[in-house]
Amino acid sequence: MKVKVCVGSNCTFLGSMSILDQIDDLREIISENSDDYSDEDLEVEAIKCLGFCKDTDEKVAPIVVIDDEPMYNATGQTVMEKIINKIRK
Ligand code: FES
Repeated sequence: MKVKVCVGSNCTFLGSMSILDQIDDLREIISENSDDYSDEDLEVEAIKCLGFCKDTDEKVAPIVVIDDEPMYNATGQTVMEKIINKIRK
């Protein structure tokens, strides 16, 4: 699974660094409980602004893209839920 977290200025301002930290914590939890999760790799990448926040007047940041599917207004909780739902056995 590929998780890309935008660290452009809008997304950083609205908390993307904390989402990155939480994904790191989640990776540890997954590796400690590997029986409960598929062994799919969790690739995490910090990316620059892809322009999502500039294409609209609505608030969309922070943006996290999971397997090419963008999540708008991402929070640590919504991102964790999405990742866990995808890799839980
Ligand atoms: S700063 Fe994240 S989408 Fe623009």
